[in-house]
Amino acid sequence: MNVIALNGSARGKKGVTWKLMDSLLKGLSEGGAVIKEFQLKEMNISPCRACLTCMHKTPGQCAQRDDMDQIYLPLKESDLFLMGTPVYTDSMSAQMKAVMDRCICGMDPFLVRDISNRIRHPFSWSMPSKFFLVSTSGFPEVESFSPLILTFKAQAANFGAESIGEICIPGSIALQMAPHLLEPRLSQIQEAGKALALHGKIAPTLLEELNQPILTTAQYLELSAKYECWARKSRGEG
Ligand SMILES: Cc1cc2nc3c(=O)[nH]c(=O)nc-3n(C[C@H](O)[C@H](O)[C@H](O)COP(=O)(O)O)c2cc1C
Repeated sequence: MNVIALNGSARGKKGVTWKLMDSLLKGLSEGGAVIKEFQLKEMNISPCRACLTCMHKTPGQCAQRDDMDQIYLPLKESDLFLMGTPVYTDSMSAQMKAVMDRCICGMDPFLVRDISNRIRHPFSWSMPSKFFLVSTSGFPEVESFSPLILTFKAQAANFGAESIGEICIPGSIALQMAPHLLEPRLSQIQEAGKALALHGKIAPTLLEELNQPILTTAQYLELSAKYECWARKSRGEG
C-alpha cells in the first residue's frame, strides 16, 4: 500500500496532530506500507486562483508552480491519503484547504453523474482511492469535529474516493499539560495503523475505541487550569 500523509498543522512536528499521525504512520510502516510524508508548514503552497487553466487549457495540470509540485505525483501514485489537520475555526487548517482546492486540477470541466447519482466533474487523474482523517481539537467535546468530518467526507466523495475512517482526539489544550495521558492511545493508534496496512481498513469497533475522549470534562477542566495559569503569567497577569 502506498500512502501519502500530509500534516496540515501550523505547528508541524511540535503539535498533537503530528503525534497522532506519527503513531499511525509507524504502524502503517510496520504493516509494510510505503509512506511519503509532508509537513505543509514547511511548504510554500498558494491558494487556488480559480483561473481554471487546469480545466480549459492544460488538462490535469495546475498553472501555478510552487511546492504543490512535490505533492501531485505522490498523490497520483498513492492508494491512501492520510489527511492530518487540527480543527481550526471548526474546519481544516488553511494549509490543508489550499492543498485540497489545488487538487481540483484533476477534474475535467464536464459534468457527469457520480456513483451516488449526483452531478459532479469526471477526473483527468485520480486521487488516492481511500481517504483517512487524523485530527485533534483544543476543546474537549467530540462535537468539535462534526463540521470537519462532514467536509472531509464530502471531499472524499467529490474526489471519487472512499472515506475509510477518522481518528479525532479532542481536548488538546489539556492533553498538552499531561502528555503521558496520551501515550497509551498512541500505542493503540500504532497497532491500528498496522491493521490498516495489512487489511486495508480499521475495524469499526476499534475505530470507536480510538475515538473515545481521553479526558472527562472534569479532568479536562482541572488540567486546563494549569494552562490558564501559565497563559496568565505569559500575559504578565500572574
Ligand atoms: C487558528 C486556530 C483555530 C482554532 N479553532 C479551534 C476550534 O474551532 N475548535 C477547537 O476545539 N479548537 C480550535 N483550535 C485549537 C487547536 O485545534 C488545537 O490547539 C490543536 O492542538 C492544534 O493542533 P496541533 O497541536 O497539531 O498544533 C484552534 C487553534 C488555532 C491556532
